[in-house]
Amino acid sequence: MVRLAVVGTGWQGQGHLTTMKEINDIQVVGICDLNEEMLKKAVNKFQVKGFNNYVEMLEETKPDGIVICTPPEVREFLVREAAERGIHCFIEKPPAKNLEMAKKVDEILDRTGVINSVGFMYRYSGAVAKTRELIAGRRVALVRSAMLDGLALRPNWPRWFFDKERSGGPAFDQAIHIFDVSRYLLGEVDQVIGYQDNLIVPKGEDFTIEDSFSVTMKYTNGILQSHTHTWSYPGVFTQIELISDELHLTLDLAKGIVSGKVDDIEILFESKDDALYCLELEAFAKAIAENNQDLVLSTYKDSIQSLEVALKAVEALESGTKVKI
Ligand SMILES: NC(=O)c1ccc[n+]([C@@H]2O[C@H](COP(=O)([O-])OP(=O)(O)OC[C@H]3O[C@@H](n4cnc5c(N)ncnc54)[C@H](O)[C@@H]3O)[C@@H](O)[C@H]2O)c1
Repeated sequence: MVRLAVVGTGWQGQGHLTTMKEINDIQVVGICDLNEEMLKKAVNKFQVKGFNNYVEMLEETKPDGIVICTPPEVREFLVREAAERGIHCFIEKPPAKNLEMAKKVDEILDRTGVINSVGFMYRYSGAVAKTRELIAGRRVALVRSAMLDGLALRPNWPRWFFDKERSGGPAFDQAIHIFDVSRYLLGEVDQVIGYQDNLIVPKGEDFTIEDSFSVTMKYTNGILQSHTHTWSYPGVFTQIELISDELHLTLDLAKGIVSGKVDDIEILFESKDDALYCLELEAFAKAIAENNQDLVLSTYKDSIQSLEVALKAVEALESGTKVKI
């Protein structure tokens, strides 16, 4: 049994708590939030001891691992206090607010040697694994991706997501998933350029982000990708389309399906198990139980590259110029 504690009991923290209830090998031993109301709700719902003091929780419950579900500016202290006690760290995406913080967190993880994982859950998708297999040794030339979501249309979504200073908007907070899974499939990004605007939800006092953007990226291996993103779409649509003279595949990340053609052969693969949050938490727990970092598909060190792409995309969108990575 792997004993985990959770810090941050908001949307994602409660999501992970719900998921972990269904995983036999995980026992949640403590939860922490600075917001008393959030904490109380989670304690009542999950019947786990609550703490408003993180260090006190670590000292009292002595968990094997911590699941960090706070906003991205709250990472370094939480990782340091856990890792220096030998407590393994699962860290929600984005891995940090900026590169400086990410490097400090990375140094702590290197020094302490604890198992680490970043919440890029699409890496655990069977459809992503199948796509990697299908494109291995074949040419990909063009990529068309889109992530369409309705966060800006949801009245009850945490407001910090719409504060540009805190969340970075869709390009930083959410497109980082696409940047990460695209890197996992295609390689490293070299340059990015793009446009952003408020196309549906206008800016206001507590809405300082642009709700939509479009970027073009050039990879070091020459691949060109255009990515379209909005938080003002009344549904969920997440696809990456891979195109060349050898293949034409559509990877539907929301549905866990990859379809199309490779060398004129029709492909239709539907992943049987795409409970992605469950898979990433199971992998973290197993990595702890077996003391094997290799079971984790998204290490902190690798996630820093995805963070860099997201930060440069934001820079390109803000400046309206081409940015080199
Ligand atoms: N992987 C995914 O699909 C996914 C989905 C949603 C959110 N996220 C990520 O999860 C993280 C949390 O997002 P959320 O939607 O749950 O936000 P949220 O605002 O709902 O919850 C964050 C919680 O953290 C608490 N908190 C902040 N600082 C704290 C501290 N120092 N100690 C203890 N608690 C503290 C807040 O009080 C709040 O309750 C973000 O990094 C976000 O990008 C990931």
